Amino acid sequence: MKAFITIEGNDGSGKSTVIEGLKKVFKERGIDTVFTREPGGSMIAEKIRQIILDPVNTAMDDKTEALLYAASRRQHLTETVIPALEQDKLVICDRFIDSSLAYQGYARGIGIEKVLEVNMFAREYLPKVTYFFDVRPEVGLARIQGRDKIDRLDLEEFSFHQKVYDGYKEVCKLYPERVKPINGEREI
Ligand code: TMP
Repeated sequence: MKAFITIEGNDGSGKSTVIEGLKKVFKERGIDTVFTREPGGSMIAEKIRQIILDPVNTAMDDKTEALLYAASRRQHLTETVIPALEQDKLVICDRFIDSSLAYQGYARGIGIEKVLEVNMFAREYLPKVTYFFDVRPEVGLARIQGRDKIDRLDLEEFSFHQKVYDGYKEVCKLYPERVKPINGEREI
């Protein structure tokens, strides 16, 4: 079953928990699926991830950040996603281009259009469907409070996460055919 599906949402929106559940169910049912993530999903892209998320890199410029996400996306698409789709596999990806539109485009203030342009230069490729886990930032952040793994974006203030959420709402308006919101505030 060939399809490229992505899952999006604020930090703490429950994406990873749901993806773990999907992995189990799909395995039981014998659905051949490639589960992957961004930033990352290939060796080189995972190395770029380490640079982007390293909490010591506080001096990282916003556009550098946007370009690194786009670079890791191109490598991931070329090395992992597209070859799997060519083998008729289902690919489910934890975060993709809409994260860049919401985080770098909207929350960092670069502009959704500009970030879209950079990503289209990197490689023009959009998912068939994207599920946006709609969880308000105060709810998401409360869920991940106390989690020991802290990355550079976790160090951002509440107002940043609020902007990310507003950015996702813009993305939903821009792509109503592709991006489907799901209420993520309910129990698993
Ligand atoms: P993760 O914690 O879901 O693995 O994602 C790492 C962080 O990177 C998360 O805070 C969201 C952020 N991010 C962006 O800012 N832009 C992007 O394009 C992607 C894929 C992730």
